[in-house]
Amino acid sequence: MARTQPETFAALEGLYTSQSSAPLVVFGVPFGDPPDLGAKFEIPGLLSWMAFGDANAQVKGIDAFPKENLPPLWLTFVSFHNMVALGMWFILVMGLAAVFLLNGTLWSKRWMLKALMYSIPLPVAACQLGWVAAEVGRQPWIVYGLLRTSQAHSTTVGAGEILFSLIMFGLIYALLFAVWIFLMFKKVRSGPQIEAPPQAVLPAPSKAA
Ligand code: HEM
Repeated sequence: MARTQPETFAALEGLYTSQSSAPLVVFGVPFGDPPDLGAKFEIPGLLSWMAFGDANAQVKGIDAFPKENLPPLWLTFVSFHNMVALGMWFILVMGLAAVFLLNGTLWSKRWMLKALMYSIPLPVAACQLGWVAAEVGRQPWIVYGLLRTSQAHSTTVGAGEILFSLIMFGLIYALLFAVWIFLMFKKVRSGPQIEAPPQAVLPAPSKAA
């Protein structure tokens, strides 16, 4: 991406100034115009190394591009970083759970079981965040460098019709979500099905006796 879509790359990574030894922003709060990052925590040189295999490589930042060719910076950065944060959480929580499983202590660690349970919906959130990062991050292009989104939208489908479709989709998914939650709770409350121990098969009493 650093080579083929450098504007998106700079927006995702929160690199607002072109520089060599570019840092990887682990955490930051994007704000302002010109854009800046507050409360940031970064690792120097890591972005240059990840993008070009050289910790001193020059990486283009937001300031290298005309404003009309940039994606919305806040949403691109926030969605991407939250997706990656969730990815890291999954690695941590599954790694830890695997260790506890192997040493036989997993089932007695309630906090671990709770962390696993509350993590169930998070991959869905990560997928949505990834999708937002990809779709918002590629703006303003629908075909990179060739066709702008503003030139490619339908002239026959009105905004009201799109809003109506989105509301209908929203309602259907909300209904499916409610049914899913209801069934999950029902299943959890009834508990696991414990199979009865197999009945001993006794030989039929012999008539001779
Ligand atoms: C571990 C850290 C992760 C990294 C470094 C990472 C990296 C990326 C990158 C570079 C993109 C492309 C963005 C673009 O095209 O502009 C992306 C998109 C995406 N990611 Fe992640 N990701 C991570 C974790 C996750 C997780 C945990 C999930 C879901 C469980 C996820 C789901 C997605 C989805 C659905 C997309 C959009 C794909 C598309 O529409 O083209 N990612 N991710």
